[in-house]
Amino acid sequence: METTQQSQEHHAQIELGVNIDHIATLRQARGTSYPDLVEAAFLVEEAGANAITIHLREDRRHIQDQDVYDLRKTIKTRMNLEVAATDEMIAIACDVHPEDACVVPEKREELTTEGGLDVIGQFDRIQKATRQLSSENIRVSLFIEPDIEQIKRVLEIGAPVIELHTGTYANANGDDQKREFDRILKATEFAHDQGIHVNAGHGLDYSNTAEIARIPQMRELNIGHSVISRAVFVGISKATRQIVEVMQNARK
Ligand code: PXP
Repeated sequence: METTQQSQEHHAQIELGVNIDHIATLRQARGTSYPDLVEAAFLVEEAGANAITIHLREDRRHIQDQDVYDLRKTIKTRMNLEVAATDEMIAIACDVHPEDACVVPEKREELTTEGGLDVIGQFDRIQKATRQLSSENIRVSLFIEPDIEQIKRVLEIGAPVIELHTGTYANANGDDQKREFDRILKATEFAHDQGIHVNAGHGLDYSNTAEIARIPQMRELNIGHSVISRAVFVGISKATRQIVEVMQNARK
């Protein structure tokens, strides 16, 4: 358990995981060897990211198995590997040994991850995946909706980290966005009080990230599409530095 002082010191910092999946999307669009993921991860780390996030999808639409192994050898910060709770993906994660594994729901036809895990309905499967990954000393994060009932089931499973889905917040406007922000805030406070390490991600960009980064108990944000999109114009180093700046300014 952290002392209050440690907790306050730690939470003055907020970490950034940059999701580089869409560097691979661009490569896969032409079947070329570029843009190079290892170089992308290097530049993103150099620009101040604290982790590199990648999602090995069942359909391998962007990240390929070889990418995961190549990046495992070269990432100097932390690898956060997003995987579905399937036997195939859990076996790969246990073999690769990322520092962090984030268990996500996955539907083949979706454009991107469309919501959090159903920890209530899929309890046994998610518990099994968490136990397998934890037994390899991989820190497990469960990607969930900002919902207190889901967090209570995470506590029963014993996963040390959650990542709250911010996609609904990111897509909403006005009062709907305020309501969703409030759900994220309450879920963060509740989970943190229970000793869970709280991250968030999905749909975060240069305009909506500050409000989430300002939540004092929030520990890490995973951001992909907006950073890679901006990188097309300003380069990946500057795009990363700019989102780091948004997050750090939010904590001042
Ligand atoms: N967190 C999780 C669990 C995700 O699945 C994704 C998308 O792969 C992200 C964060 C990043 O989302 P975005 O690309 O919208 O920033």
